[in-house]
Amino acid sequence: MLALTAILATGVPLAQTVLPPLIPKPVKVVVGLGTFTIDEGTRFAATGEARKVIEPLRQMLAKASGYSLPYTTTSGPGVISVSLQPNLAYLGREGYALEVSPAHVRLEAPAVGGLFYASQTLRQLLPPSVERPDDRQPESWRLPSVAIEDSPRFEWRGLHLDVSRHFFPKEEIKQYLDSMALLKLNVFHWHLVDDGGWRLQIKRYPRLTDVGAWRKTMDEVWSQGKLEFPEPEDKSPRYGGFYTQEDVREIVAYAKARNITVVPEIEMPGHSMPVMAAYPEVTCTYFAQNVWKIATGMHHATNYCPGKERTFEFLEGVLDEVMELFPSKVIHIGGDEVNKLQWNRCDDCQKRMRDERLATPEALQSWFLQRMEKYLNAKGRTMMGWDEILEGGLAPNAQVMSWRGVDGGIAAAKSGHPVVMTPTSHCYFDYSYQSISTRKAFEFEPVPEVLTAEEAKLVRGGQANVWTEWMSTWEKVETMVFPRLLGMAERLWSPASNRDADAFLARSDRFLERLDALRLAYDVPTPTPSHSALIFAKQAKLTFAPPATPGATVRYTLDGSDPTPDSPNYSEAITVADTTQVRAATFVPSGRRSEIVSVACARYVPRARTGLEPGLHLRYVEGEWDRVPDLHIETPRPVADIDPKPFLGRDKFGLEWTGYISIPSSGTYTFQLGSDDGSVLWLAGVKIVDNDGLHGYGAKSGAVDLEAGVYPFKLGYFEAGGADGVDLTVSGPGISAGPVPAAWWLREPLSPPRS
Ligand code: ACM
Ligand code: ZN
Repeated sequence: MLALTAILATGVPLAQTVLPPLIPKPVKVVVGLGTFTIDEGTRFAATGEARKVIEPLRQMLAKASGYSLPYTTTSGPGVISVSLQPNLAYLGREGYALEVSPAHVRLEAPAVGGLFYASQTLRQLLPPSVERPDDRQPESWRLPSVAIEDSPRFEWRGLHLDVSRHFFPKEEIKQYLDSMALLKLNVFHWHLVDDGGWRLQIKRYPRLTDVGAWRKTMDEVWSQGKLEFPEPEDKSPRYGGFYTQEDVREIVAYAKARNITVVPEIEMPGHSMPVMAAYPEVTCTYFAQNVWKIATGMHHATNYCPGKERTFEFLEGVLDEVMELFPSKVIHIGGDEVNKLQWNRCDDCQKRMRDERLATPEALQSWFLQRMEKYLNAKGRTMMGWDEILEGGLAPNAQVMSWRGVDGGIAAAKSGHPVVMTPTSHCYFDYSYQSISTRKAFEFEPVPEVLTAEEAKLVRGGQANVWTEWMSTWEKVETMVFPRLLGMAERLWSPASNRDADAFLARSDRFLERLDALRLAYDVPTPTPSHSALIFAKQAKLTFAPPATPGATVRYTLDGSDPTPDSPNYSEAITVADTTQVRAATFVPSGRRSEIVSVACARYVPRARTGLEPGLHLRYVEGEWDRVPDLHIETPRPVADIDPKPFLGRDKFGLEWTGYISIPSSGTYTFQLGSDDGSVLWLAGVKIVDNDGLHGYGAKSGAVDLEAGVYPFKLGYFEAGGADGVDLTVSGPGISAGPVPAAWWLREPLSPPRS
């Protein structure tokens, strides 16, 4: 592709130079003839700021190559020169020019940020082994001849990290910043505060971290309903951590050296449960007195009280220290998902609403945020919040981060406010790769078409968000972020015209070798089986789609064990003739493995059954689980259909429907099971859809070949608190997707109660 660009640019076919994969793709690349060889004669020429920028890469390369690569003040062959060039001002603060020819290498930019990005592009032109200077490989250190001119499309290329739900120490934050730098991302949105814990030392309010940074352990499985922040003298096991102000200064400087601004997020007025545990005087009085057990459906106070002056004094004290630590112009104040029930029962809040003539809780929130904005503006800072800050009226100078789709961003831009786009559809990297693939991340377009050219200028850029409720380890964070961050980074940097997803994916697959060298964990796609389960009378065949990742293989076992790199290599359809499990995983050349997919296979002959009647049996039990419970010892009641409605709105319970399903004709049936929280569907004792575990609403489907006949049926569901619901649909031969017809249900008659 790039070689072709060179032909088009020059009109002359050139040597077959294949550039290493560059991500994000530079704006202008012209490939030249020959290579620049790094050897014992190579020198660097750089002074002042330029030397500071290039020194880390020079050291890395010197160590990896074994050449000393000293600095020189003379120009000439073999010199890599790095310099600030004010005449390149047209490239902007982050733009740069990079030229490699057989005689020399030149990195030039009008500003330090651009020079840093020139160094990152040079790094990507070097073999991936430069990333591992400690295990030196015999490597030919050559750079392909190329002329690059490059600058970003957006000024806000963000990556967010929630360190509240799970805490990650500063070494891991630095790794995150390193990865951002490699991909030319320039805003680290540090979500330091949420219900899961307060993570920032505030000297004026030590209990924020003495109390608010430590919660009672809850088995690593996140549960909003179980949050408790014990007093320091309570010695029960606890989970947490925080960053000292010294840590923060170190991180901010580390980021700055990588052209990254750290934007702190201090949530208000909601999502602040640890604050209310530490300083109950800043929440509503009723809630402060009943912090942990309140019979209103809200278990803990999470909101500040806008009715109390004490609240503002407190928050201003916090923000004073935040502004001293973070030079960022933008201070993010959250503002999302405020449960305003709390304010409705507070005398102080009600009085404030009367005094300020505020008709709704939304107006109260708006009043609160406008007051905070005045404080920040007076100190020369700009307030940013999630799109809920539009409700009740946007503060005059606020910037909006649009997450519930793009509508909030559109509304804000149309009223003249700068916005950052982070819609859940493309930017929520806590969502599975099934819902946001690397391709989908690449397809993110931050500027909605409905904006005029003038309004579009208010879109500062976009950002990927990483909420960590379900990420308790750093490896899990990396796996959720890579490789799809490559797609996001490219969209936020390169011109809007760069929309060829296939070309991008080919480059990102090649880029994995660099991620391997960096020992970054990344998602490897799970093998895709032809069926999620097999039910057969004699035998059946199972196939897997070929893996998309270059060099990857699918390996499988038939004995229930985990596949290893030595397990049989899938090459043709697997025939199964017995009840068993096929377990398979994708392996990539670095040895990294995907998650394992398990396909249950069962020999089962659907028999004719007599004495059944229409309907199913339903068992209902109240209780708390994190997996679908087995309820078979409970007493069933007869029901006509699967209908959870009578139970919804209750808090912690399980449901189990059992009986038979009558399959009308032979063919492939696809069942889709959606629920919040978990659910599982079994046919003939075989798990067809596994949507188990604690989670928000999500649907999964399973396809199975069935002969016409009657099969044992079971659907289990549980609800652990919060939103709820379960639904099952089916599609099959001649049947388009819809609820399972009630006529398909059969059950044993319940025996009459004994007298
Ligand atoms: C958010 O995801 N609550 C901003
Ligand atoms: Zn109040």
